[in-house]
Amino acid sequence: PSGKMWGGRFADTTAASVEEFSASIHYDSRLYHHDIMGSKAHARMLARQGLISDEERDAILQGLSEIEGEIDRGEFVFKPELEDVHMNIESALTARIGPAGAKLHTARSRNDQVNLDFRLYLRDEVDVLDELLCETQKAFARQARKYLGAVMPGYTHLQRAQPVLLSHHLLAYVEMFQRDRQRLADCRVRINIMPLGAAAMAGTGLPIDRQSVAEELGFSAITANSMDTTGDRDFALEVLFCLNLIQLHLSRLSEELVLWSSKEFDFIRIGDRYCTGSSIMPQKKNPDIPELIRGKTGRVTGALVALLMTVKGLPLTYNRDLQEDKEQVFDALDTVKSSLAITTELLENTQFNVQRLQEATVGGFMTATDLADYLVRRNMPFRQAHGVVGRIVALCQERGCELTELPLAELQEFSGLIEPDVFDILSVDGSVHSRQSDGGTSRVRVEEALHSVENALGIT
Ligand code: ARG
Repeated sequence: PSGKMWGGRFADTTAASVEEFSASIHYDSRLYHHDIMGSKAHARMLARQGLISDEERDAILQGLSEIEGEIDRGEFVFKPELEDVHMNIESALTARIGPAGAKLHTARSRNDQVNLDFRLYLRDEVDVLDELLCETQKAFARQARKYLGAVMPGYTHLQRAQPVLLSHHLLAYVEMFQRDRQRLADCRVRINIMPLGAAAMAGTGLPIDRQSVAEELGFSAITANSMDTTGDRDFALEVLFCLNLIQLHLSRLSEELVLWSSKEFDFIRIGDRYCTGSSIMPQKKNPDIPELIRGKTGRVTGALVALLMTVKGLPLTYNRDLQEDKEQVFDALDTVKSSLAITTELLENTQFNVQRLQEATVGGFMTATDLADYLVRRNMPFRQAHGVVGRIVALCQERGCELTELPLAELQEFSGLIEPDVFDILSVDGSVHSRQSDGGTSRVRVEEALHSVENALGIT
């Protein structure tokens, strides 16, 4: 016999190279807490169903608690030849309590066990992510409150477009992270279905009670089809997709922080503690943290694509390929969690250069749309107004002046509808003030938005 837990039918031992190649314990050991939680619920159910005695159940529960304590304290030695976390724990249990331990795997396969562990683990991780996202949102909301009233250029195509409030820009990220939280909550609904009892893939002939296990572990329902269950990693893929959008949002922010901290923009100053220097150029202060967040987006996307490709060609039901799921998900989780946490800190340690932001709104004819709207209010069709203002801009460009610098008489040559009050709407403040449509950048709308964000986040 091979000496393995599954070794009965084997005449020879496993090649060392195979043990090394197939082991997953170096990464799936992080499931130990959830593996033990699942095994305890399973053992209680086995006893309720009369499949093991109450004494055997108590020995199993006691043994599992002791093993968990050892792992917590770093005293437990995981053995690669036992492949994975499930067999390491089960074999330690049997070594500790004897025959009762060997009954734990009754009516269970590692195929449904690993699915259960992964769901339990991801359910907790989704909750951690939600808290981290909430903290990031709070950092944005605090900055939006602090800088309420400051103006800046809004961009399209990275060209100056229309003046906006800095707080409006910051609150845009709060919305993005809010959608991320909603997506995670939705994904959690499908994570939270109990797979144990699917066994290897066909279910079991033993009289188990899946529903009671689901209730004990806080699942909302049990999976409906044992074959679907053991081959299903949709929930892991969904988590990866959610992680991808979070990291994508962080990456877009990072790109802005990198740009804004350049001399060319000079919109922000990131605290010294959150920047690094150059080993050769003494003057340098580099935004390495946002650059790294932007860079790490590649590996998070890689994890999603890798698991999609792993699952794509698999016949039903469980295939060992599926063991490739966890490493990708763990890496993506670690990356996104650390990126979120440091983004929150970074933001709290970033100062906006209000004067420079204000200066950047002057020049670039950013109130040209306001002038067109002015003509529209005087009943000129918008397309015609667009043309008129385009010609005014061309003249300014020729002269090297701003819209506000053209004398009224000259403006009036372009349209008799223009009157002295035009200069109110050509100012940056006037422009921002006018944008009172729902979701717009006017001070009233932004204050409303900030209020509701602060309420939702519990900021007082
Ligand atoms: N370590 C395996 C995994 O992560 C557990 C399931 C193994 N099942 C099996 N029949 N080999 O997928």
